[in-house]
Parts: sequence; C-alpha cells; structure tokens
Amino acid sequence: MERAKIVVTGGAGFIGSHAVVELYAAGYQPIIIDDFSNSKESVLRGIQEILEVEVPYYNIDCGDETALRDVFTQEKDIQGIIHFAAFKAVGESVQKPLAYYRNNVGSLMTLLKVMPDFGIENFVFSSSCTVYGIPDQLPVTEDTPTKPATSPYGNTKKICEDILTDVAKATTSLRTILLRYFNPIGAHPSAKIGELPLGVPQNLVPFITQTAAGIREKLTIYGNTYDTPDGTNIRDYIYVVDLAKAHVVAVQRLLEKKGEVVEVFNVGTGRGNTVLEVVHAFEKSTGVNLNYVIGPPRTGDVPAIYADVTKATNELGFQTTSSLEEALASAWKWQQTLTN
Ligand code: UD1
Repeated sequence: MERAKIVVTGGAGFIGSHAVVELYAAGYQPIIIDDFSNSKESVLRGIQEILEVEVPYYNIDCGDETALRDVFTQEKDIQGIIHFAAFKAVGESVQKPLAYYRNNVGSLMTLLKVMPDFGIENFVFSSSCTVYGIPDQLPVTEDTPTKPATSPYGNTKKICEDILTDVAKATTSLRTILLRYFNPIGAHPSAKIGELPLGVPQNLVPFITQTAAGIREKLTIYGNTYDTPDGTNIRDYIYVVDLAKAHVVAVQRLLEKKGEVVEVFNVGTGRGNTVLEVVHAFEKSTGVNLNYVIGPPRTGDVPAIYADVTKATNELGFQTTSSLEEALASAWKWQQTLTN
C-alpha cells in the first residue's frame, strides 16, 4: 500500500526531525519543509541514516505562498500537515516581537490559505504549555484556563491556537489537533539526531550537557526560593521520541475520525521535576558531576507546571515510555557525538 503523505514543516528541527523518523516508522511518508534558519542540513543525513531511506525535503520558508504552492503541486495528494516551523526563543521574542509574529503567525495563515486549494484538511499544530501561564492549579488539564502570555513567543502560540479554532469552526475543510507540549528533552537513541541549539543554549538540558562536556563553565540554576520542595522550578520533561510519537497518533486520529475535529491535548509525562532533580538525575544516569551554582530567578519563569495527561491517554491511547534518567542519558550520548 502507498504511504500517506504527511508534510512536516520544520522537519529538520529538534522535535520535527524526531517526528519525521517516527512517522516513517509508522508507515507514513513524511515530506520535510524547512528553511534551515534554525536547523542544519546535516539533520537530513541523520534521518537518512536512521531510516536507511531518503526523505524528500524542500528548502523553503513555509510562509512563502508561491513556494508552498509549488511543493503541494509537485507532491500531490498530501493527507495532512504537521506544523512545527516556528521561532522558539522566549527571550529573543521579547527583543524582536515583530519577527515572531510575522514568522509564527504569518506562516500559519499562509498554510491555512493554501491548504484548501489542494484539498488538505488535516493539521496538527505545535502548541505549548506556555498558554497556561502561571496556572492556579496543578496539574493542568486541557480545561485549565489559559492566561495572558508572558512573552511574544507565548502569545504567538495562543494566537495560532485561536486562529485554528476559529477557522475550523467556520469551515468544514479544516480538521485540527493542537498539541500542547511540555518540556521536550533528549535525543534519538541512535544519537544521529538531537537538539542543535544556536549559540548559548537557553533551555536547561542542552545547557546541562554542554556544561558536562566542558563547553560551558557552569550551569546557573535560576532561583531556589520558589514554593516547591527544593525551591527550584518544576517542569514536566518529556522524552522527545515519546513526544514525536504523539504526532503519529494525532495524525492517525485525524485520518480515521470522520467529521469535524478541533481538539487539544496536553503532551507531557504527568510528572513534575524540579531543576535540582534534573541535575541529580543527569549525574546519576551519566556518572558525570555537574558544576552548578544557584543564581537569581529568570524573568518570566513559571514557578511550577506539569501536565494532566488523562485526555491524551484515554483518547489518543498515548503513553510515554522513557524515564527522566533515560531521556537525560540520550541527551548526553548525543552531546558526545557533537564534541568528539
Ligand atoms: C520555555 C517556555 C516553553 C517554550 C520553551 C522554548 C514557558 C513557561 N515555557 O520553557 O513554552 O516552548 O521555553 O524554549 O514559557 N533553567 C535554569 N538554568 C538554565 C536554563 C533553564 O535553571 O540555564 C531552568 C528554568 O528556570 C526552568 C527550567 O530550567 O525552570 C526549564 O527551562 P527551559 O528549558 O528554558 O524551558 P521553559 O522555560 O520551561
């Protein structure tokens, strides 16, 4: 049987590349669109080595309507789109809000404009737990009220969710699943693909692995006086391969389920871990001691957030399989391929 074609925008990025691998493994034909503005072409090699097959890719900006139409014309019969392509640096978004709105909101609007002309109805969107802001209750369910975003990046996720919800309500030609990710970490077990931060990592786990590798002198933990068991922030760290698999089940659901679909799912583990717990789990699973200090809190940080994953478990049949230690060990294995 022919593989159903799924376009993956941002398919050379961190989560996107892992989703491409899992989609292919599940019997789909991923088609990558990426402009390599925050990814490297070497990722395509990694994907090819894992799958032992070349995945088609197009080096275009998915906000470029003409280029997008050309891809859809050439590929024909696309069954769905997973839209990862977006800028994602929270701090940078505060400095360059317009670039974030233009890229993140603009590319979604272009995709939504072009899709109906090619009969593409199914759309999975990369959203974020950032839409919950500082939640009043933990864990957060999909019904937990969203809060005003604390950064332009966060706001683009909220706006894109609203756009998708409104468009899906207004037409019968859009069926969409919004996945609210918690904190993705780790790398493919083959260590052929993983996270490739540009410059100094802003996210915790790449900063930890770069510190362990001696690229950074020390990790600064942003505050230890929060109202949590050890005073450091709590997050829900999900192994990127588990997160990638959530996209496969979301696509499956869109292809199988009849009628209108506008659904939102939390994608996390349901576990909250403090920053110090992550540091200690890293040390335990890798045997490497980490040089760290406690610094002041980071502006805009949410003290604690983790997911209630009941809905994804019950309705998508989604389950995570990897522990925090395993995910951190995979991140370290990947880091070592970068420095050796
Ligand atoms: C943030 C966003 C998330 C977004 C992600 C993309 C929120 C609530 N979350 O995640 O939506 O997708 O960025 O980059 O807006 N930490 C340190 N030292 C460091 C780095 C991080 O202590 O050097 C701590 C942070 O204070 C935080 C935790 O580690 O408690 C995780 O931080 P990070 O990896 O940056 O992710 P979030 O801020 O949770």
